[in-house]
Amino acid sequence: MTTEKKKVLMVCLGNICRSPIAEAVFQSSVEKMGKTNDWVVDSAAIIGYHTGNRPDERALNVLRRRGHDYKGRARPISDNDFKTFDYIFGMDKENMSDLNEMKPESSKSKLLMLGNYGLPKHENIIEDPYYLVGEAAFEKVYDQCEIACTEFLKQFYDTKSI
Ligand code: 4NP
Repeated sequence: MTTEKKKVLMVCLGNICRSPIAEAVFQSSVEKMGKTNDWVVDSAAIIGYHTGNRPDERALNVLRRRGHDYKGRARPISDNDFKTFDYIFGMDKENMSDLNEMKPESSKSKLLMLGNYGLPKHENIIEDPYYLVGEAAFEKVYDQCEIACTEFLKQFYDTKSI
């Protein structure tokens, strides 16, 4: 398709629950489409609190059950990310307002809320599952990410741009 790979950064508050799941789902979506040569995907946090940590055990369990072997560790988003990533996705409205505030003048990234792709308007927030007991909320995050990533990629290839 394109000569240069498009770069996608999935962002949530801690980079240990939602954005690692979104990263793994986006990666497997492009693999299923045979489009790995078109994309680079990574994830990052708004806050540095969990820097260097593996994802939350519940996120890892969901990823394992769905067939992913996720190797990433949490890192905070940097100014440079806004210069190098084409698309930066937030999971909820707080992520989006934080990203808009952090965005440097020189940013070339499009800031998008992931759930605006493919999810019904009343369910377009990918809610923070961190403080909820159990793994059901993490399963829901996975399902939402799968729908949204598929729809984003469909729209991208249908329109050749977003
Ligand atoms: P995430 O979930 O943003 O989906 O990674 C959270 C992880 C950690 C915290 C909040 C949300 N925390 O407050 O430490």
